[in-house]
Amino acid sequence: MILPSSIQEVNDAAKIEEVVGDFVNLKRRGANYSGLCPFHNEKSPSFNVNPARNIFKCFGCGKAGDPITFVMEHEQVSYPEAIRFLAKKYRIELKETESSDQQRQEQQAIDSLYLINQFAQEYFQTQLFDTDKGRSVGLSYFKQRGFREETIKKFGLGFAQNDMDGLLRAGKQKGYNTDQLKKLGLVTQYDRDFFRERVMFSIHNLTGKVIAFAGRIMAKDPKQPKYINSPETEIYYKSKVLYGIFFAKKAIRQFDECLLVEGYTDVISLHQSGIENVVASSGTALTPDQIRLIKRFTNNIKIIYDGDAAGIKAALRGLDLALAEDMNVRLVLLPDQEDPDSYIQKVGSEAFLAYLKEKGKDIVQFETELLLKEAGDDPTRRAGVLGQIANTISKIKNPLRRDEYVKVTRQVLGVDEGRMIFEVNKLLRRDLEKHQALEGVTPPSSDDSFPTEEYVSNPVMAEAEMSVGDEFQEKHIAHILINAGGEWYDQAHNTTVAQYVWINIEDVIDYFDSNLYKKVVVEIMQRVNQGLDISAQYFINHPDTDVRQLASTVLTSPYEFSENWELKHEVFLNQRKPEDNYFKDAEAAVKRLKLRKIGRIIADNHAKMKVINQGDVEQLLPLIKLDQKLKAMRNQLAGELGMVVVK
Ligand code: UTP
Ligand code: MN
Repeated sequence: MILPSSIQEVNDAAKIEEVVGDFVNLKRRGANYSGLCPFHNEKSPSFNVNPARNIFKCFGCGKAGDPITFVMEHEQVSYPEAIRFLAKKYRIELKETESSDQQRQEQQAIDSLYLINQFAQEYFQTQLFDTDKGRSVGLSYFKQRGFREETIKKFGLGFAQNDMDGLLRAGKQKGYNTDQLKKLGLVTQYDRDFFRERVMFSIHNLTGKVIAFAGRIMAKDPKQPKYINSPETEIYYKSKVLYGIFFAKKAIRQFDECLLVEGYTDVISLHQSGIENVVASSGTALTPDQIRLIKRFTNNIKIIYDGDAAGIKAALRGLDLALAEDMNVRLVLLPDQEDPDSYIQKVGSEAFLAYLKEKGKDIVQFETELLLKEAGDDPTRRAGVLGQIANTISKIKNPLRRDEYVKVTRQVLGVDEGRMIFEVNKLLRRDLEKHQALEGVTPPSSDDSFPTEEYVSNPVMAEAEMSVGDEFQEKHIAHILINAGGEWYDQAHNTTVAQYVWINIEDVIDYFDSNLYKKVVVEIMQRVNQGLDISAQYFINHPDTDVRQLASTVLTSPYEFSENWELKHEVFLNQRKPEDNYFKDAEAAVKRLKLRKIGRIIADNHAKMKVINQGDVEQLLPLIKLDQKLKAMRNQLAGELGMVVVK
């Protein structure tokens, strides 16, 4: 084990901007840096690096953490591996405890598994190209299937002779351990080669190392499986692997789409035809790990299956998981009797791509149509379809996307929108209650204006409603309070930022549009009055999920506002380093919020004046006076902010 003091040394040395900077092109923005997120596909930078706190955060996909987390995520390595990686970068010599021997042995054992697989691939390749049988049987088979030599080499294809122990002998000669050859499934327990009389496919991990093999039978033999595979080992977890991902990852990012096919040969054929953003699930439904693997590169999956029922059902099984990850999934069915390999060889890549474009169908819509077709005219079964589709839609996290799906599917189903929303809400509520029961939280009562409640009672509208009014200014205030509420606003007069903010906005708190921000502001004030801690740590551990989430966003960066955002919502970060000097930021935020709220109060007041009889001076006069006072306040605020009030 690496000694804690060594870990500390790495922690102290690793600078987030340097570690990230090795992989991401970072641009300075004030005290921070931003760039394109390496964890999801984006065109404008929402990936933020904060040197002061030594952390990164992506406001697009939510990934966040310190230098070690970054290396773990980016390089897909374990914690100790990330430490070693950073130690190497910073030339730190790691001190390890006694048990490091055992760990080193384990690591060596894993390294040798990779090494042996690499050897086996070379062996199979030599058999394919440099033996008579290999050339006449294996190579001619691949060539007859249309694979070019460079493709065969790139994908590490090979040939296994009908030889009892050729691989075993070659391995021994190289000094490889027989037990490890057995562990990898290359040799059976009876000391025979496992793969015999088969053409060989190498399976690579994300970094291009060979982790397993598949062997395809040559003879047509109904008693034997067409493909046989290596067993699972420490380096090969079937459910985490996608065939072809190493060769596809760059193109998947580039085209922001991942094509998913069933077979090894489909991947190779498409690749050879210039369509490189393709992987295979190897004949099974997508697993959650595979979906997450794809999601590292894109949110868009296009499943290309042959039109048989089994293939379609397999595709649909992975659907809910992908939707829950907010991925867009489209499905293309190929003409009868074709698989991607045969079809692209028949029509060529241009026609193939055109077909995908034309026939690709959103998978929820596809499922709706398929289920309806199956249900026929039976009214009970048709009602069941409504429930099933509502269930699929309820798995989608993003309310706007749910809204879109409600619109599309209710048309196919021939029910009205209200009915569809009702069905989806019912399921959302059930999920929420289940979730809360698990977390030990009581569900909100129906007259509570808890945001989640709103979300559930009208999931379709929630997001649109949430972004109106003065939310952004309110959020800015909440940010300042969480981040710096306890700092001095004016030390000479014993005033904290929180006190200053409260004194100035107390009179407009009822005009807050967002319940969440209002709740945060009010709670901070209550705590200040009671002399309780209002550090960011308190909010990070807050019992309310929304508050916790807000706090973690705030903490990771006070500069999440993009320039456009600032202009659009009139929130300006006039101070580049509020850590050093909070009061200007607080002052500006308070003034901007008040300016907007006063505008609202003026409008309210005008509305009142309108309904009063113009002759009723006694009632009218105080309102006119208030109007004058409010306008004077407004003008003063605007003047201080250097803004011009229109109207
Ligand atoms: P297919 O039977 O469609 O094979 O199975 P294929 O890849 O198109 O192969 P060719 O064109 O006949 O040479 C699709 C996938 O299902 C898995 C493999 O991953 C295969 O690529 N499979 C199929 C197996 O794992 N074992 C089998 O016995 C059959
Ligand atoms: Mn095929």
